[in-house]
Amino acid sequence: MKSEILRALRESDGEFVSGQTLCEKAGVTRQAVWKNMVQLKDHGFIIESVPNKGYSLISSPDKLYSADIKSRMKRDSFCQKIESYDITDSTNTRAKHLAELGEEEGTLVIAEEQTSGKGRRGREWKSEPMTSIYMSIILRPKISPIHVSGITLLAALAVVKAIKKTCDVEPLIKWPNDIILGKRKICGILTEMSSELDYINYAVVGIGINVNNKRFPANIKDKATSIYLETEKKQDRAQLAALTAQYFGEYYKKFIEAKSLEPFTIEYNGLLINRNQEVKIFYGMQENAEANKIETGIARGINGDGALIVDTKNGTECVVSGEVSVRGLYGYV
Ligand code: BTN
Repeated sequence: MKSEILRALRESDGEFVSGQTLCEKAGVTRQAVWKNMVQLKDHGFIIESVPNKGYSLISSPDKLYSADIKSRMKRDSFCQKIESYDITDSTNTRAKHLAELGEEEGTLVIAEEQTSGKGRRGREWKSEPMTSIYMSIILRPKISPIHVSGITLLAALAVVKAIKKTCDVEPLIKWPNDIILGKRKICGILTEMSSELDYINYAVVGIGINVNNKRFPANIKDKATSIYLETEKKQDRAQLAALTAQYFGEYYKKFIEAKSLEPFTIEYNGLLINRNQEVKIFYGMQENAEANKIETGIARGINGDGALIVDTKNGTECVVSGEVSVRGLYGYV
């Protein structure tokens, strides 16, 4: 109900909305509207109320609050249920736990802070409170487990689209799923799944976006940045989270129908920072020269399976995510 009230206030573009209109839109009594207004104000929403005119939303708090995020999505959005936490261990872990308990596809778990944020390849994902976005979406895709990596690439597309729309900047993608702004990483994506040989019980796509971070620890500051640091503008986290989830749902539905990334390759390849660039391919889990077989080549783009096509001196290779990592010749991108 709070999300319907917030939606109605937002849709009025600063005009007052009468109590009666809010009752009709939210499908509740005047008393219920009033009670919810008090609770929204307690959450930090500034709402002006004037007798005989109604209510007007002056400002929203910088918080990732489920009703607020929902009010910014389309009504028929893929993420119908949102669980927001001030603090959790990891939104991926939380989402997997909910999925084990039977939670439906499309449920979004989002948090202000993570105490055990997880990155790819078993790394830690530093999770500073109240500055970033940590979100995970529960999925139950009816596809073969071998195609699950495609979901990560779709999440990358959704993040880029949402950042462009909300923050008015043009990020790019470092294959398979790092989002880059000003040559450094602003977002990472981690997809995890529980599956049988030929069947996915559930998958969880986890997205971490560095939004308003002002600094990074010494060990990652050469590689990581935030949208704030690149734009010098504080960004609207709730709007960015809502659009990311909204767009992800739209891409995902299309992917499940097509059972392929073919419909997305042109868009993805247009955003690929490595396209037509010389890259180093590391075969194995470690990105250091000693532990791996390394090859260099020119990255051409992804194919319909999400593999990166690389022209090497030995011919064209289709590099599959999970088995390798790719770097620029002289640094991270
Ligand atoms: C990477 O290593 O690039 C992937 C990072 C993924 C981080 C996100 S934050 C939300 C979700 N919960 C986690 O514990 N990890 C993912």
